[in-house]
Amino acid sequence: MFADLDKLPADPLLGLTKLYQDDSRATKIDLGVGVFKTPDNKTPVMKAVVEAQKNAALKETTKAYTPADGAPGFGDAIATLLLGGANPRARVIQAPGGCGALRLGAELIKRGGAKGVTIGAPTWSNHQPLISAAGVAINMVPYYDAATGEILFDEFYAGVEKLGPKDALLLHGCCHNPTGADMSREQIDAIIDLAAKRGCLVFIDTAYHGFANGLEDDAYLVRRAVERLPELLISYSCSKNFGLYRERTGALTVVGQTPDRADAMRSHVHVIARQSWSMPPAHGGVIVAEILSDPALAKAWKDELEAMRLAVIGNRKLLVETAREHQLGDRLDYIAAQHGMFSMLPLNPEQVMAMRERHGVYMAGNGRINMCGVNKHNVGHLVAGVADVLAG
Ligand code: LMR
Repeated sequence: MFADLDKLPADPLLGLTKLYQDDSRATKIDLGVGVFKTPDNKTPVMKAVVEAQKNAALKETTKAYTPADGAPGFGDAIATLLLGGANPRARVIQAPGGCGALRLGAELIKRGGAKGVTIGAPTWSNHQPLISAAGVAINMVPYYDAATGEILFDEFYAGVEKLGPKDALLLHGCCHNPTGADMSREQIDAIIDLAAKRGCLVFIDTAYHGFANGLEDDAYLVRRAVERLPELLISYSCSKNFGLYRERTGALTVVGQTPDRADAMRSHVHVIARQSWSMPPAHGGVIVAEILSDPALAKAWKDELEAMRLAVIGNRKLLVETAREHQLGDRLDYIAAQHGMFSMLPLNPEQVMAMRERHGVYMAGNGRINMCGVNKHNVGHLVAGVADVLAG
């Protein structure tokens, strides 16, 4: 049966980790997959998570299946974080990671008879494969100009203006991946108003909640969309803000025109999940519910998340200042104003390869770097490498 299957290349992002691990140079730098890192290159378990795991283990009395909506209390916790509280038009369904939530959303869009999903370019490298695997066409429209580090708002707006009721529009909730370039509040308002006018479905991917300007501020786009739009889908990931990467903890929130419509949408999501992985994994959802239902743990988690957010902003400043002190002048200044884990270096694919081969610096093929991997020990090597490959 499988004799003719070609061997496929490794995933462009996940494959980077293996390439980095196989590099024996002491000066190598991993700026690939988006995980938080301390300056000594560690991704520790968050302290609130360690505590919550202990509590949850003591409380656990069964390993019977998790309900279709997820661990008890998880959905309410996500609704509070994301929407500011329960909303009669919203239903939260736990999914295996943000990817699982995106796939559920894409399958639901397919069931709704969508013509396609429109996404601003560039976008996260897994959006296109993941959404098109559900049988939905992808339409890319301009979003960001890598040469200037600016959002191409007029072009993006013009792309959205062409959409209709059978189209979906994918937006990044905050911390745009890969560019770090988030829309201003005015731009968000304009796009949401336009989506309302055009009648297209907005699907918001929120994977870095808390890393841009803080939990409340980062929920602006989602809350504005809930306020203004009759229907909405939101995928959520707890990988980064709870550091639960390997626990695959995410959620799809469906917002319907009425509570009844929301229930109907949820019933389809349950069926799609049942056909895919049946019921959600328990562990991560239990941890999130445990943290957010305990005021002391919730505060500890928020403080830790805030410290991570500030650390990444510090790394951005460090890179920009080091670039200024060395041969790069103001060429990387735009990075200081961007948000979240990622920004793109002004490098073409050949220069990205040269960074890897000549300097042992690993980043995505489009020049995206994980800002968490930049630190005081490696920033000089990084900037010298960029100056070298830009010089030719
Ligand atoms: C990333 O963009 O690096 C992360 O979201 C990890 C992933 O799954 O690609």
